[in-house]
Amino acid sequence: MMTIDKFNFAGKKAIVRVDFNVPLNEEGKITDDTRIRGALPTLKKILADGGALIIMSHMGKPKGKVNAKYSLSQIVDAVSAALGVEVKFAPDCAKASEAAAALKPGEVLLLENLRFYPEEEGKPVGIEKEDPAYEDAKKAMKASQKEFAKTLASYADCYVMDAFGTAHRKHASTAVIADYFDADHKMLGYLMEKEVKAVDNVLKDIKRPFTAIMGGSKVSTK
Ligand code: 3PG
Ligand code: MG
Repeated sequence: MMTIDKFNFAGKKAIVRVDFNVPLNEEGKITDDTRIRGALPTLKKILADGGALIIMSHMGKPKGKVNAKYSLSQIVDAVSAALGVEVKFAPDCAKASEAAAALKPGEVLLLENLRFYPEEEGKPVGIEKEDPAYEDAKKAMKASQKEFAKTLASYADCYVMDAFGTAHRKHASTAVIADYFDADHKMLGYLMEKEVKAVDNVLKDIKRPFTAIMGGSKVSTK
């Protein structure tokens, strides 16, 4: 299995799925940047190796529609400051091939919210489960989800999964995209590695009774 430590990103383009679903205030300013800081070790290693970075994420639940409230353009400056590199922005995540191709080593491109496309989540839109046509709609959506994942994959030479907060979702950018890279060109990022190790350590040496308390920043959805 490939690991981020073993992989040399020099001269390569890496597409990295992060979870930059950060809370914003009314003015669109980030109120908690934990998730951005959490992805930095991975992003910095790729740049330090001499790689180019394509960063992708979702924000909120725009349900497959473009919605300025959830635009990742709002976090470009914060990501630039955190990385110490001026981050470029691709305003349509599915039409970023030119911007991706133009990236030079050390450069960074942030893609617009993946969930502006229903293909990211892969659920058919505008049709209820009870509808007799639902199964066909689902099949069609699964097929276009593959195409969407393939498009994202085409931007890069390798894929890094570091979106720990979204790792429980089987979406185009977190799961399906991995089918378009061979085993030597896909890997977990440092945040994912760290969290997986932490869970492994707890479960390896478990003394019962055992209570696990898990939480997140948005208590309303927990
Ligand atoms: C979260 O904040 O819960 C994660 O970013 C995943 O987002 P989701 O719950 O909307 O899938
Ligand atoms: Mg959630």
